[in-house]
Order: sequence, then C-alpha cells, then structure tokens
Amino acid sequence: MQTANRLKGLEQSPIRAMTQRCEAVGGINLGQGLCRVPPSVELLEAAAHDFPSIDHSYSYAEGDAGFRADIADKILRYQGLDVDPSRQIVATVGATGAFNAVLSAFLNPGDGVLVLEPFYGYHVACLRFFGIVPQPVRLEAPAFTVEREALQAAVTARTRAIVICTPGNPSGRRFTTEELEVVVAVAEEHDLLIITDEIYEHIYFSPGRHISPATIPGAAERTVLISGLSKTYSIPGWRLGYAVASPDLSRSIRGAADALTVCAPTPLQQAARHALRFPESYYENLRDLYDGKRALLTAAFEAAGAKVGKPEGAYYLFVDCSGLGARSGHEAAELLLEKAKVATIPGEAFYLDDPGIPYVRACFSHPDDLLREAAQQLREGLAS
Ligand SMILES: Cc1ncc(COP(=O)(O)O)c(C=O)c1O
Repeated sequence: MQTANRLKGLEQSPIRAMTQRCEAVGGINLGQGLCRVPPSVELLEAAAHDFPSIDHSYSYAEGDAGFRADIADKILRYQGLDVDPSRQIVATVGATGAFNAVLSAFLNPGDGVLVLEPFYGYHVACLRFFGIVPQPVRLEAPAFTVEREALQAAVTARTRAIVICTPGNPSGRRFTTEELEVVVAVAEEHDLLIITDEIYEHIYFSPGRHISPATIPGAAERTVLISGLSKTYSIPGWRLGYAVASPDLSRSIRGAADALTVCAPTPLQQAARHALRFPESYYENLRDLYDGKRALLTAAFEAAGAKVGKPEGAYYLFVDCSGLGARSGHEAAELLLEKAKVATIPGEAFYLDDPGIPYVRACFSHPDDLLREAAQQLREGLAS
C-alpha cells in the first residue's frame, strides 16, 4: 500500500536524527521540546481522589461544561477576554488538536497561510497535512521583530490566514502590542483569519507580560486563540487544549473537532479543573522556576562563547553560535554534540529555506540537575 501524499515530508527529521545521535553518544538531549518539569503533586492527588467518581464517558464535542467554564474564568483573569464558555470555547486534544480543527474548519487544500519564521515545526507539518501552503515571513535575527512590509510582501491571492505563536517557539519572542496591531491591520486589509498559538502564555519573563493577539482592537471577530494545559501545568500527556473564538467561528471548529476526535478526554478535563483554579501564586512560581532554568543555561552557553538574546517567554534558547566558529545551525549542533555531548536542534529546522545563520535551539524545561550537567559539559567541552 502506498503512503498517502499528505504524509510525505512530514517527519520531524532533524529532531529525530539529533535524538538518535545523542543517544548513540550518551549525551544530554536539549533538542526536543519535551516538558520535563513535574506536574503539581496537589493536582495529581486531587485527580486521583476524584477519578473513580468522575464521568468516564464522552463529553460534548465542545468539551465538558465545567472545564469550559473554568477556562473562560482563567481567560478573563489573565488575558482580559470575556468569552461565553457555552458558545466560544471548544475543548480539544491538545493545542495541536485545536490547530488541526481550525485548519480543517476554515481552510481548503491549496490555500496559503502566513507563518512567521522561525516557526514551530508542527504548524508547518499540520498545514502540509491538509494540503495548505505555508507562506513564510522571515523575522530577521537577532530581534525577530514583526515588520509590516515583510507581512505585506508575503501575502498573495491564495493567502487566507496567518499563524502567530506568542510567546514564540523557538524565538522566545513575546510580541508587543504594536507588532500585534500590525498583524491585525494586515489581516483586516486582506481578510485573513488570525490563528494564535498561546500555549506558553504563562511562561514569560519580566519586564512585561504576555499579550493575547485576540485582545487587539479589530481582532476578536477574525481570531482563533489556541492554547492548552500541556506547558502551564506540565501535563502534556493529558492531551488537553482548547480553541477560543467568536460563536460563529466556534460552531465550525466544534464540527471539525467532533469529526476529528469526538471529544477531548472527559475524565481528564474534569480532573484538570483543579489546575485551572490554582491561585496566582502557582503561575508566579512557574515563571520563577523557568526564569532560573533560563538563567542557568544562558550562562553556560555564554561562558562557552555563544550569544544568547534573553527570551521573553517559552522555554527555549535560540542561540547564536557564530562565536564558536560555526557557519550554520547544522555545524553548530554538530560541534555541540561532538565536543560537549549536548544535543540541540539546528536552526534550519525552523525555516523553509536555509536562513544562513548559525543558530541552534536548546530547551530548558529539564530538571536543574540535568541543566547543570549540560552546563558543565558545555563549559568543559568548548573551553578546549
Ligand atoms: C508552540 C507550540 N504549540 C503547541 C505545542 C503542543 O501543544 P499540545 O501538547 O497542547 O498539543 C507545542 C509543544 O511543543 C508548542 O511548542
């Protein structure tokens, strides 16, 4: 049997290849974006306590009503968006499930979607899976700023949507109000849907805070906010996400989510309500925890001679390795693996065409002990 065309070229080969190479040399894998911070014990205990008595059947296609009500409360508290949980939220199988539901609800094969480079690989993989054409908009290193001219230049007659990831993987950018206003203005001018992936909404570093693109005037009617619980509560395996949009858009997203997966896991939606009600201190602690990890790994790369712009959010460093003598991301990743036994992802993996910059992505969502070990290997391996 022939594999369907939609699967061709989808494998995340640079990440998989690096993982295998890392295992072969017994190295430390900072390449994959795995969330290695443990979930809160309180959440696990509360979930275990509730588990025998909660509903183990299907939920509505749009999700458990209580789960959606708690999501709406949290969105009001932290994003300042007032949404009706019965008509504007669809629970999904991870943020990835939400992204796929949105693509299948609004886009047809051959449509074009603007993606900001460097991009999150799954965004492009999912677009391709549906036969949608990714249209790259290069954000120039090291600032990775959104420029109106670059957006305008990428729009063609086939363009139907734009994907924004903030805080961004891998750039660590948290787009400013001004940048988001540019996105919304271009979307309004060309009648584009705005799909915002805000999975790292609670992992950001001072100064400033996360701004949801959906809060920009003019955005609400054409924006789908996508997020999930994987990163904020360190429960990626629970596969809980959601899409938030106008009642009109939400109806179509619900239809797509229903056809794709019937519903998100019902018992886990109910158990996760404990997490959604955590006090503000939980989110402050999470930010402090990640800030410490960010500082630890940044110091190690800088001591080794690389340049690290401070990420404003998410849990990655996008590291400029020109100071190590590397001329490309591939060369840099090879060097780090060979000399320090630390695996990273070559920057090329986050662009459609060779960006011509020697960047690698390193993930810092790991236990501090492992990050300290990686730091030591970087210092020792690259000092020689
Ligand atoms: C930008 C971004 N969106 C979505 C996801 C996956 O989210 P989920 O586990 O909710 O499907 C990731 C995971 O690495 C990510 O980096």
